[in-house]
Amino acid sequence: MEKIVSLAKRRGFVFPSSEIYGGLESCYDYGPLGVELKNNIKRVWWKAMVQMQEDIVGQDASILMHPKIWEASGHVEGFTDPLVDCKSCKKRFRADHIVKTDGPMTPQWMKKNFEDKKPKCPECGGELTPIRKFNLMLKTHLGPVEDEGTTVYMRPETAQAIYVDFDTIMKSSRKKIPFGIAQIGKAFRNEITPGDFTFRTREFEQMEMQWFTRPRDERKIENPQDKREMRGPDEWFEYWKQERMNWYLNLGLRKERLRFREQEKDELAHYAKKAVDIEYNFPFGWKEIEGIHNRGDWDLKRHSEYSGKDLSVTDDETKEKYIPWVIETSAGADRTALAFLLDAYEDIAGGRTTTTESAKETETVLRFSKNLAPVKIAVLPLSKKEELSSIAKNIAGDLRKHWTVDYDETASIGRRYRRQDEIGTLFAVTIDFETLEDKKVTVRDRDTMKQDRVEIVQLMNYFQRKLDND
Ligand code: GAP
Repeated sequence: MEKIVSLAKRRGFVFPSSEIYGGLESCYDYGPLGVELKNNIKRVWWKAMVQMQEDIVGQDASILMHPKIWEASGHVEGFTDPLVDCKSCKKRFRADHIVKTDGPMTPQWMKKNFEDKKPKCPECGGELTPIRKFNLMLKTHLGPVEDEGTTVYMRPETAQAIYVDFDTIMKSSRKKIPFGIAQIGKAFRNEITPGDFTFRTREFEQMEMQWFTRPRDERKIENPQDKREMRGPDEWFEYWKQERMNWYLNLGLRKERLRFREQEKDELAHYAKKAVDIEYNFPFGWKEIEGIHNRGDWDLKRHSEYSGKDLSVTDDETKEKYIPWVIETSAGADRTALAFLLDAYEDIAGGRTTTTESAKETETVLRFSKNLAPVKIAVLPLSKKEELSSIAKNIAGDLRKHWTVDYDETASIGRRYRRQDEIGTLFAVTIDFETLEDKKVTVRDRDTMKQDRVEIVQLMNYFQRKLDND
């Protein structure tokens, strides 16, 4: 983890926000390579979850929404963490930071470990207050006067915007159940214990898809899997669970570092009937990167009640009216970026490039998949001489129209290869003195280190074959 944190800062992937002012706890900024990586993650997610899906459409809702939405959704009442304060030193702790637990903090657990055992403050040994619920939503005010009436919340999940826009989007896009609405956007949570680099922060981005389905189908059919409009929530849950796991596998995350974990009944969020997490084996343990949730009719029903707008639909055949159920897939762009970064990281002791100066040093390679690599191609003239650099700059200019390109003419070629390997650049194009004769360049593959001699006029085709074939 330390190596990743240091590489992330040194090479401009991600680093603490507001650093020249001493930083702001748990807030991070993505630098030039980090923003490419995160944009690539969001782009491939959007492609897989919206553009390639016949029955999923996208939206981009505002972060600030009507405050009543959060009453209806249950977040005002239920989106809380248990906290205690020390009566002597006034420090504040989350309950599981006083009494460690791997499981959920159930009311029974809290009674047994706090009310009965009365633990002391871990800092000063002072007496602790009884457990209080602390709401994780961040608040702000709209308009010039700050009072109760102007309070709005920074959304703690993107999902709610999809539920409140459900009817408008269904009608405008002429979709019928089953169909989905997807969104990528920022969410905010006043986490009491942020940490583990970008794993848990107070501001983060979610990539969520809400799939609307019939509650269940009373019409008996042999295999509900065969007829998609007759599949019920359970079948869709299994379907999306597998689809989402495959997404990570197809992007190259190691299979042995991924698993499903079904949440215990007493761990479930207030809206969930069932939840399965996709977990990644981080250096700090197995942790959730995405949740698949069966939210039942909780959200649409509550919004119908609280807004007065009927969000039920009518079945074309049976004319039966029902509130659709929701199967949600909810991933974090920042958490998955961290998982992709960790998974891509490899140190090669003794190095693998054969130039003398770098031969003995440990070499770092980030083995990002071709879709995720922040830089696809590096263009490296062997010398800074005008006769080579002018050709190299032309090549870089042409390639840049299609892919992200890094141009580098400083330091030895071995060192430049290593710089590119360290940020996961897929290919390096070297322009040497022979290029002047044969109009060819050398293309080096990051992973195999195999070198191809390619005619300059063929370069575009060459990279189209290598990079654009999916
Ligand atoms: N709409 C459902 C929902 O928000 P969640 O399990 O609370 O479910 C979904 O969050 C995903 O959002 C998580 O799997 C994680 O990737 C990301 N996430 C949640 N809280 C986060 C935080 N504090 N920092 C970074 N990512 C977070």
